[in-house]
Amino acid sequence: MTKPLVNRAIVVTGGGSGIGAAIAVRLASDGATVGVFDRDAGGAASTVARIRDASNSAHAQVVDITDYDAVKGAVAQFEADAGAIHGLVNCAGWDQFSTFLASDTTLWRKVVDINLMGTLNVTHCVLTGMAQRRVGRIVHIASDAGRVGSSGEAVYAACKGGLIAFGKTLAREHARDGITVNSVCPGPTDTPLLDAIAHDGGLGERIAPSLAKAVPMRRLGRPEDIVGAVAFLLSDDAAFITGQTLSVSGGLTMA
Ligand SMILES: NC(=O)c1ccc[n+]([C@@H]2O[C@H](COP(=O)([O-])OP(=O)(O)OC[C@H]3O[C@@H](n4cnc5c(N)ncnc54)[C@H](O)[C@@H]3O)[C@@H](O)[C@H]2O)c1
Repeated sequence: MTKPLVNRAIVVTGGGSGIGAAIAVRLASDGATVGVFDRDAGGAASTVARIRDASNSAHAQVVDITDYDAVKGAVAQFEADAGAIHGLVNCAGWDQFSTFLASDTTLWRKVVDINLMGTLNVTHCVLTGMAQRRVGRIVHIASDAGRVGSSGEAVYAACKGGLIAFGKTLAREHARDGITVNSVCPGPTDTPLLDAIAHDGGLGERIAPSLAKAVPMRRLGRPEDIVGAVAFLLSDDAAFITGQTLSVSGGLTMA
């Protein structure tokens, strides 16, 4: 059987860890040549090694997505290595728990820079070529926090809600260009990011033990839980689906 993403160059930001790494491995096994874009060189190299060990195809791009010019260079390099980009998964993200009133502008800027500005940078650099070629698939990894809010994550939730609205607008602007844009929302998922929050010695540590209890399926997500929805939205089967928001969170939200 032909693999569904064969001969497609797909960028996964944040592909060096957690959910992004699992997505990168899955897309490569579905036939894509994956660009693992991450600021963590070791993480990116390790995901590429996992993919190549399975005889699939990937390239690492060590890049900080908050730097527009660096992203532009990384996109050009990946296209030189792998061909025109067909898919983009915006998965790089970061958070630190704090009530809004206890947080300050330094934290707000860092959260906005990575989760929102970084995604705008990558999307702008990749979408430009997609629009010229009139083909492409974009998936934002948002969060259920962006749909229903999440105590301790006010600014992060604002960014993720922003990504959902950004995606819907791009979906409208490019619907007739053969480009789809959708958002996938994990709930609490067992990754190094959640582990850091759960051991922050503060609000995250106090909230973390209750996270799984809030999920109707009574467990945290695993990175592998998220990948199927992303692979589907990148595939030809999803050609008529755009501007949608899909929670993959064990029933945490049913909006
Ligand atoms: N883990 C959860 O509970 C959860 C829940 C909902 C949504 N998400 C979202 O899923 C995505 C992946 O999170 P994860 O839990 O796998 O985290 P993670 O920390 O395991 O992986 C995130 C990756 O993004 C990279 N990254 C961060 N900032 C970057 C930057 N400026 N430039 C380039 N790379 C950068 C990191 O180096 C890391 O490899 C994030 O967008 C996160 O907001 C996670």
